[in-house]
Amino acid sequence: MYLTPLEEKILNGERGATCQKAIEILVALGDIYDADRLIPIKSTQIAGVSYKTIGDAGLEWISDLKGKVAVPSILNPAGMDLECWKEMGISEEFAKKQKDIIKAYKALGVKIECSCTPYNIYDDLASFGDHVAWSESSAISYANSVIGARTNREGGPGALSAALIGKTANYGFHLDENRKPDILIKVDAKLRDSDYGALGYIAGEMVGDKVPFFRLKSKPSKDELRSLGAAMAASGAVALYHVEGVTPEADRYEAPRDAITIEEKQIKDVYKSGTGTGSGEPDLIAFGCPHSSVDELANLARLLEGKKVKKEVWVCTSRAIKDRNPELIERIQRSGAKVFCDTCMVVSPASERFKCMMVNSGKAHKYVPNLCGIKSVMATTEKCIEEALKD
Ligand code: F3S
Repeated sequence: MYLTPLEEKILNGERGATCQKAIEILVALGDIYDADRLIPIKSTQIAGVSYKTIGDAGLEWISDLKGKVAVPSILNPAGMDLECWKEMGISEEFAKKQKDIIKAYKALGVKIECSCTPYNIYDDLASFGDHVAWSESSAISYANSVIGARTNREGGPGALSAALIGKTANYGFHLDENRKPDILIKVDAKLRDSDYGALGYIAGEMVGDKVPFFRLKSKPSKDELRSLGAAMAASGAVALYHVEGVTPEADRYEAPRDAITIEEKQIKDVYKSGTGTGSGEPDLIAFGCPHSSVDELANLARLLEGKKVKKEVWVCTSRAIKDRNPELIERIQRSGAKVFCDTCMVVSPASERFKCMMVNSGKAHKYVPNLCGIKSVMATTEKCIEEALKD
């Protein structure tokens, strides 16, 4: 891979050990994937934040790094709400380690916003055609597909290295030739709300890491596209998709010849099939995977108006969205539902004490059994609220 004279100097350690380590990681990735050079990036979104997932080894690695990030960088959700962690049932010991991780990222100049929806917090992290290095799978899918920015599926160390150097290796989805669709998915159903998550759940399993091109009968909102992409990234490894007449790069391509059809019954079946072992009725109803947008909070506030939940209900969102919308948050909390920031029902150990989680997200439905060790049931947003209000 070609390196500029300045990059060579960094590789030789002239900018210190941290930048040297970071560029070594980028060059190693570039060599593996046959990149020709490093390219400048506009932002990074860094995974490897929850103490539940990175443990002491991850904490030690981040704490040893010195210097500052070179581009705006934001974090993935942590293992707890950084303010209301006691209310989540998080132990003092876990909270201490989690705070140490956050402190280590802060020392590197990373913005302490822990969210999988960075595009809902800052407008200037990624625009059409920008190269970025993001690492949460739903955020990657959104950046590539809905914004039309360009990112690979970065691991935590890759994204942090890109943040420190301000560049990433030029391969994969940064290149035009890897962004064209491989398979047409015709959807024979009118969809709304969580149906898109259910569709993504099925489609991801079918296409793996291909680039699907959807032909839909309904026009999805941005939140619905986000649900579709999040679920496909979880049940498969889809990092980019196109929707005919909707997403910004779709009209560059002809629909692929290789095609499958998904019917309404298949989508409805996702709601019937629980995932994971365990039994019993849902004892936790969780919204906000990916982190709830303002529109989603407004919908929940409307559905919960004047009602009291009888079960544990969590609404996960980013701290920025919570802080900017106090009236909506208050209306949700008045029902007894809890609003948590900086974390989510999947990456926090707090959900492990429940037996069965009901979710309106295809991504959470896929991950909850493996990452939380409990059963998951998927339902529409309205059905989740009905369940929350039942005795
Ligand atoms: Fe975000 Fe957690 Fe879901 S990181 S996409 S809310 S699993």
